[in-house]
Amino acid sequence: MGGSVASVARRGQVMEVDFALVGHQDSWRAAADVLAVLRGPERTPLPDDEIKDILPWIPPRAVCHVEAGSIAGVKARGLYIDSFIPPDRLEAAYMHENIARVRGAAAYAIKAGAKIVSLGGFSSILIEGNFDQLPERHDTAFTTGNTLTVGFIVQGIKKMCALEGRNIRRSTLLIVGATGDVGSGCARCLAPIMKRVLLSARNVERLRRLAAELQADGVQVEIATDVQRFSAEADVVICAASLASPSLLLGRIAPDAIVCDAGYPKNLSPSAEMPGARVFFGGLGQITGGLRFAPDFHGILNRHPFPDVVHGCLLEGMALALEGRFEPFSQGRGYITQERVEKIETIAARHGIYLAPLYNANGPVEEGLYCQRECSRG
Ligand SMILES: NC(=O)c1ccc[n+]([C@@H]2O[C@H](COP(=O)([O-])OP(=O)(O)OC[C@H]3O[C@@H](n4cnc5c(N)ncnc54)[C@H](OP(=O)(O)O)[C@@H]3O)[C@@H](O)[C@H]2O)c1
Repeated sequence: MGGSVASVARRGQVMEVDFALVGHQDSWRAAADVLAVLRGPERTPLPDDEIKDILPWIPPRAVCHVEAGSIAGVKARGLYIDSFIPPDRLEAAYMHENIARVRGAAAYAIKAGAKIVSLGGFSSILIEGNFDQLPERHDTAFTTGNTLTVGFIVQGIKKMCALEGRNIRRSTLLIVGATGDVGSGCARCLAPIMKRVLLSARNVERLRRLAAELQADGVQVEIATDVQRFSAEADVVICAASLASPSLLLGRIAPDAIVCDAGYPKNLSPSAEMPGARVFFGGLGQITGGLRFAPDFHGILNRHPFPDVVHGCLLEGMALALEGRFEPFSQGRGYITQERVEKIETIAARHGIYLAPLYNANGPVEEGLYCQRECSRG
């Protein structure tokens, strides 16, 4: 980081702000937990209906300080800024209101003197194509964090294939939300090593453009707007659609298919029946050099069954801050390539930021696999 840290005066103290993480909660439970910490332990928790009334009126604001440690011995200091988008208002109907919230969170980060801002979850989706709506930026760079996210999704797929003894080169890949920034990045990284690639999204023109790009590199590609047409044919599925709630039903799916849900909020509906499928949550990394929140939001801002696990989009900003590279590493839709992914993975690994242990709604995946194998050996 050298001497290039920003500083901000607060309560008479000088606080250094290398990075800001802009986020929002994907469930009312998570939003209630954030509010409970902000209100303090001396106050009784608010009832659920009151939380739903209050949340839309809370302006974007920093909820805690974050300190990220590197295995290289440096530290970066930052802020977590919640845009307080209500979890049930991610739909297009609330787009203007939500853009205003992300804009407010961005203004907060700029005012705090953050050198780099990671736009987590829907924040980047809302602001992509609307970057001109961000406030005057001065020395603050913005990144969507999607390049490191793609890196962790791809690493997760490869790890899961290895754990399951699958030959990825003989497998068919389906990507739902294939034309998005995350989906198309995954397609560029994985298509060259898969037997066949199936792309799905709603807009057929964008699907055709991506298919033509991959076909030019010799990849066998098919497209469909109806995901159900493909689901039974895929051995590996990546769900990376920007859905406002977990509502995706894949329909009939191949037994033993490997399914990565990379959505935030999650893509897959809890009622999706996929007997035999190996599901894991993708795009997550672990920061092994240490992560501290003040006040303590551990397990609230990062609700995962392993310590110091964070979404790839937020880790990208922390990795760049630890590296002292305050630049818009990921910006715009459709520019993520294998080369860019390798570049950010190298930066992240230098600071001890790696793929998180795989897990799903039932808990750790690797332990489950281990247990299945040990149990079958008797
Ligand atoms: N795990 C992580 O760390 C992490 C990090 C960043 C992002 N994410 C999540 O990844 C997802 C994708 O993000 P992104 O930045 O790639 O978004 P994006 O660029 O807006 O792309 C969204 C994709 O989903 C498709 N889509 C939207 N609604 C759909 C629907 N109802 N059915 C099928 N496809 C649909 C879009 O194509 P059409 O409009 O043509 O359908 C597009 O292909 C989001 O959930 C985001 O929050 C996770």
